[in-house]
Amino acid sequence: MSVNWSLPFDERVRTVSRSTTMTPREYEAMHERSLENWPEFWEGVASELPWHRRWDKVLDDSAPPFYRWFVGGELNACSICVDRHAAGHRASKPAIIWEGEAVADRGPTVRTMTYADVHREVNRAAWVLKHRYGVAKGDTVGFYMPMVPEFPIFMLAAVRLGAKFTVVFSGFSSDSLSERLNDAGAKVLVTADGGRRRDSVVRLKDIVDGALQASSSVKSVLVLKNVGNSVNMETGRDEYIHDALARAPADATVEPVSVRSDDPLFILHTSGTTGRPKGQVHDVGGYLVLLHATMRWVFDLNDDDVYWCTADIGWVTGHSYIVFGPLMEGATVLMYEGALDHPSPDRWASILERHKVSVLYTSPTAIRSFMKNGDAWAKAHDTSSVRVMHSVGEPINPEAFRWMRRNVGEGQVPFGSTWWMTETGGIMISVLPGLGLVPIKPGTNGFPIPGVEAAVVDEQGLPQKPFTRGLLVLKRPWPGMPLTIHNDPSRYKEVYWSRFPGSFFAGDYAVRDGEGYFWILGRADEVIKVSGHRLGTYELESALVQHPSVAEAAVVGVPDEVKGEAPVGFVILRVGANADAGLASELKALVREKVGPIATPREVFFVGKLPKTRSAKIMRRVIRAVAVGQSVGDVSTLEEEASVDEIRRAYADFRGEVSGAQDVAGRKRTDGRPL
Ligand code: PRX
Repeated sequence: MSVNWSLPFDERVRTVSRSTTMTPREYEAMHERSLENWPEFWEGVASELPWHRRWDKVLDDSAPPFYRWFVGGELNACSICVDRHAAGHRASKPAIIWEGEAVADRGPTVRTMTYADVHREVNRAAWVLKHRYGVAKGDTVGFYMPMVPEFPIFMLAAVRLGAKFTVVFSGFSSDSLSERLNDAGAKVLVTADGGRRRDSVVRLKDIVDGALQASSSVKSVLVLKNVGNSVNMETGRDEYIHDALARAPADATVEPVSVRSDDPLFILHTSGTTGRPKGQVHDVGGYLVLLHATMRWVFDLNDDDVYWCTADIGWVTGHSYIVFGPLMEGATVLMYEGALDHPSPDRWASILERHKVSVLYTSPTAIRSFMKNGDAWAKAHDTSSVRVMHSVGEPINPEAFRWMRRNVGEGQVPFGSTWWMTETGGIMISVLPGLGLVPIKPGTNGFPIPGVEAAVVDEQGLPQKPFTRGLLVLKRPWPGMPLTIHNDPSRYKEVYWSRFPGSFFAGDYAVRDGEGYFWILGRADEVIKVSGHRLGTYELESALVQHPSVAEAAVVGVPDEVKGEAPVGFVILRVGANADAGLASELKALVREKVGPIATPREVFFVGKLPKTRSAKIMRRVIRAVAVGQSVGDVSTLEEEASVDEIRRAYADFRGEVSGAQDVAGRKRTDGRPL
C-alpha cells in the first residue's frame, strides 16, 4: 500500500481520507519503512515547518542519552503558532473559543478570538514582559493560571521573547508551587486572582502569596483579574495585568526572537518514585516536529475542524494538545474553564453540540464520570459533528471505550487511547485515523507512530512473548524527547536510560497481543494516576510525616471506579498519639494542603508495622496487593511477615469484615463509621 507521508502544512487538503483503513500487517510494513531511513524520515516531517534557519544535522547522537534534534536549526514557536496564521488566510479564523462554566439565561459566556486577535494580544503581552519586566532569552516565566485565554497568550508571549516557561497546575498547593518555581528559576510569575469551578472561586492569588513567602526566585507577579475577588497586592512585586497592558501601545509589536532548535521551550515537573519532582526540559524544534506529525496522523486535523481537548494546560497534555499542537496547525481550539458535569451532567455533551466539536481529546476518568450519569444525558444532545476521538492519561477500560463510542458521534467514530507521557513531549503509541486506521480493539493503544520504535521487553531487556506482561521501552531517540532533567542531568541518565542501555525506560507495564497491538497496563513503579494525574507516592508520604503524630507513612494507589486509582495511606503513629477518626481526617487535610486537592487520600489507616525489605525499603507493592486483595507474590525479601497481616487486618477492618473494630495494634477503626 502506498501512503503519502507528506503533511501539507499550509495548503490544507485532505491527503489521506479518514476512511483509509489498513490491516495491522500493512501498518507494520509502513512503520518499518519509516525506521529504515531513520532519522531522515523525521527530516521530511521537519521540512514542513517554517524554520528561520534550516538545521545542519538532523540528530546529534554524540553524547547519549543527551540527544539533540535539528541541530543548527532556528525557529520561534510563537511565530509558528500565531504570526504565520495571522498573516495569511486564517487571520479572521477563530483560534480560541473559550467557554466559561457559569450558565446564564441566554447560555454560557463564550469568547472568540481570531488568529489576528491572538496575534495582537500576544504582542501586547510580550511588550509587557519585555519592557516592564525585562524578560529575555534565557529567562523563565512561571504560570499558575485558570483555564482562560490569557494563559496561552502569555505563554506564547514568553516564547516570543525567546524565554522558556514553566507551568504549575492550579490544583497544586503553595508548597508544591514554590518548590517547582524555584527549581525552574522562574523570575516572573503570571497568575490570576482566582479560577472558577462548580460555582465556587478557587483563590489562586492567596496560594501564590503562600508560595512566595519563603525565599523565591520570583521577583514579579502579574495578576489577571479573572473573578474579581479582592486579593493582596504586594507593592513592588505584584501588578494587575490590565494595568500593565494599559501601558503598552495598542498596536505594540515585538519581533519574535529566533532560538536554536535545541534551546529549551519549557520545564514541566513530573512526580517520580523518590526525591524531588523532576523538571523535564523540552526543546523547541524536536517538540514542534512531533506535535505537527501527531496533530495530523493521530487527530487527522483539518482546517474546518473544531478541536477540543478537555485537559488542563497545567499538564503536559494541555501544553502539547491545547496550546502548541493545534495552534501551530492553525486550528480552532475550544477552551473550557470549569467542571465537565456542571451545572448538569450533560455539560460536556452540550459543549460538543453548541460548538460543533469535530475532534475530541479526553480522558478515561472523564468518560467514566459521564457513564455513571447514564446514557440519557449524552443522548439529549446532537454530537454528530464529532468525527475523531482519543483518550489519554491512563488505560481505558473497554466498558468506558464502548460507552463513548456508542453515545458520541453516531457510533462510528475512530476512537483510540494514545499512550505517551510528560517525558515524551507528544503521542508515541496510537491508532492513526489521519494516516491509516487499523481495526480498533476496545482498550488497546495501537502501534508506535511512524519514526518511533517501541518494544515490550522482559527484565533482561529481551523481547517479551506475545500476551505476556513486560516493560515498555522506546528503542531510539525521538523528536520531542527531553533535553535533560533541569539541574540534574545524571538523574535523567539514571532514571530513563540506565536500566536498558540504549533504550528509554518508560516505567509502564505493557503487553503485545498476537497481532502486535500494544496494550499499556499501568505503572510498574510507585507512581499513581489519580483521575489521570500523575502523583508520586513519595510526595504524599512526605506530607504525612510532617504531622507531629506520624512516625512513618506509606501511600499506595487502589482501584477507583471513576478516578482509576485513589491514594490510600498507611501510617505508623508516634508513641502516645491517638489513632482516631479525627486524626485520620487531619492527615487527609494535611496532604491536601501540602500537595494539593487532587492528592487527598481516600482513606488513612493506622498500623503498627509496614512491610519492608531487609534493607528497610517499604514494599508498597505488597501493601497494594493486600489492599486490592491480590496475592502478595514473592515476599522473600520481606523483613517481617506479620506486617502483611497487619495491613490485611486494617483493610478488612475498614470494610467491616472483622468484628471488634480494632487493628492489630489494638486501635479503634479510623473512619468513624459503624461496623
Ligand atoms: O502510565 C502511563 C499513563 O500515564 C503515564 C504518564 O503520565 P503523565 O506524564 O502525567 O502524562 C499523561 C499524559 C500524556 C504513563 O506512564 N498513560 C498515559 N496515557 C496512557 C497511559 N496508560 C495507558 N494508556 C494510555 N493511553
